[in-house]
Amino acid sequence: MAYLQPDKPEKVYLPAILAAKEKGEKLVCLTAYDYPTARIVDEAGVDMILVGDSIGNVIHGYGNTIPVSLEEILSALIAVKRATERAMVIADMPYGTYHVSDAETVRNALKLMKYGGAEAVKLEGGRNRVKLVKRLVDEEIPVVAHIGLTPQSVYKLGGYRVQGRTAEQAKRLIEDAKLLEEAGAFAIVLELVPREVAEIITKELEISTIGIGAGAECDIQVLVLHDLIGMTFGRLPRFVRQYADIRDVMTGAIQNWSNDVKSGAYPNDSESYGLTADVLAEINKADE
Ligand code: KIV
Repeated sequence: MAYLQPDKPEKVYLPAILAAKEKGEKLVCLTAYDYPTARIVDEAGVDMILVGDSIGNVIHGYGNTIPVSLEEILSALIAVKRATERAMVIADMPYGTYHVSDAETVRNALKLMKYGGAEAVKLEGGRNRVKLVKRLVDEEIPVVAHIGLTPQSVYKLGGYRVQGRTAEQAKRLIEDAKLLEEAGAFAIVLELVPREVAEIITKELEISTIGIGAGAECDIQVLVLHDLIGMTFGRLPRFVRQYADIRDVMTGAIQNWSNDVKSGAYPNDSESYGLTADVLAEINKADE
């Protein structure tokens, strides 16, 4: 069998993630929702790209992730997949796409893989998702679990708060993580949990933990790209370190262009197209 476009030799698949955990090598994951940002993220050497349902907050301005549809993730995923050569591409399963039945969940996850090109899917929940994770893994679908703050439960939780602060809650999170590992998940996102809890889970599991607001001990760190580069509005959570102010750079560029248009400085002759002297002469003759 001949492959038209062979993968890069260093393409990140599941075994590379497991090998990194064994070697104690840290990996990085960022979100992306379109071709240019995915391409920049991939070329920068990020190991995993998550087409997250944070697309609802960051791109669509919904305010939370509840309204995000499978079609919105699919459309973003197709663009991200086209742009990505090395990183593992993971797709979030939006709220409502894995809540009705096992069969519908498998169908939706397969759509993400077959039409979107996802190499793994992510879903939120602890012990309540164990059966579902097993089913997906049985169908050859690599699964990333997600516990701690699960943003799709925002109405139930009443906000975005740190989870697992009491001994009882922390023990429950640790048990959930073990159950999800047993069910076959190959990695677990730990969102907004105390660093000590994340450290225990990371040490006790053979699979990788992917931390966001969960301290430095996690095997992999993930952030929403737009937070990292300063393209969001409102107050950032304390775990975000902003490495650039792209919003400011964009505002400056747009204002400079706008001012140049208004003053007549843009476009100049080299930024537009002219006629040859012959053609111009002919037009002028025709006018006489
Ligand atoms: O949707 C998302 O971006 C996520 C990350 C915050 C882990 O789930």
